[in-house]
Amino acid sequence: MKVSVIGAGNVGATCAEYIALNRIASEVVILDIKENFAEGKALDLMQTATLNGFNTRVTGSTNDYSKTANSKVVVITSGIPRKPGMTREELIGINAGIVKTVTENVLKHSPEAIIIIVSNPMDTMTYLALKESKLPKNRIIGMGGILDSARFKTYLSLALDAPASDISGVVIGGHGDTTMIPLTRLASYTGVPVSQFLDAEALKKVAADTMVGGATLTSMLGTSAWYAPGAAVAALVNSIINDQKKLFPCCVALDGEYGQKDICLGVPVIIGKNGWEKIVDYKLNSEEQAAFNKSAEAVRAMNTVLSEMKA
Ligand code: NAI
Ligand code: 2OP
Repeated sequence: MKVSVIGAGNVGATCAEYIALNRIASEVVILDIKENFAEGKALDLMQTATLNGFNTRVTGSTNDYSKTANSKVVVITSGIPRKPGMTREELIGINAGIVKTVTENVLKHSPEAIIIIVSNPMDTMTYLALKESKLPKNRIIGMGGILDSARFKTYLSLALDAPASDISGVVIGGHGDTTMIPLTRLASYTGVPVSQFLDAEALKKVAADTMVGGATLTSMLGTSAWYAPGAAVAALVNSIINDQKKLFPCCVALDGEYGQKDICLGVPVIIGKNGWEKIVDYKLNSEEQAAFNKSAEAVRAMNTVLSEMKA
């Protein structure tokens, strides 16, 4: 099956690499607006095939969307990344124009594609792609929560001195420093609530580190991170292509679920060959629901900024 990745930068190229390395798709097309950039990344990546033992055909294209035709999944990473001190929200104006044009071009050649939005501010970009494309809602998925959950589990495993593979933990809400909600109550060390091992203060620190997880890396790297974002996208693509029915926190359109409507926000969903197939109800307690409502308020305000910019 064919997957296209729009944007051959740090996240796009890394995601293409993990898709090939993990043999998720038979064909990956990387597309970028920068002349020959995607072609170069694709050729370099293809030259790892014999070394890493994969047969995925990886090709690049400079803005020629006909090369992406008939993709099952298209990942949109095109845009500008966060610079130190810059919020995801500041990216809105530039990235909105890019995401809108890219979505239109993608659908001309892959009308049946499932679209994954990565570009920031991701929750608003997902809402924009949904509204502009008018696609069935299950085919538009924003990726943020899988990454945030991976960061949450990493910080938990470090605090617990436990293997990351034994940790279960989920982050819902918006993909923003103040809008994401690490669900500490539901996190476990192989089924045992983490609160049995860590006191309230330690858990508070894990949640706080998770929430600034992206900003911490941006200040260290001078741009936003790419290994974990690329791996998170590849895991999402895998669940679609191989109909794995993984339960992932993803940004999807809400129509009353979790008490919210007319917004795209991170909630647990089952991901399979049709895109997001079902929203799962975590039965939030009143404190978690209040945090979710606050997160929705902030994302809705960002969506309003975008619609006012367009008006
Ligand atoms: P990057 O700058 O390395 O790559 C972006 C690429 O998009 C560049 O190669 C650029 O030439 C290309 N591009 C720009 N306009 C384009 C257009 N109209 N058509 C095709 N290609 C175009 O940036 P990076 O680090 O890969 O980040 C990409 C986006 O993903 C940023 O908005 C960043 O904030 C976001 N991001 C989101 C995450 C998430 O969890 N949702 C995690 C990490 C990054
Ligand atoms: C991240 O979380 C900036 O969204 C990007 O790394």
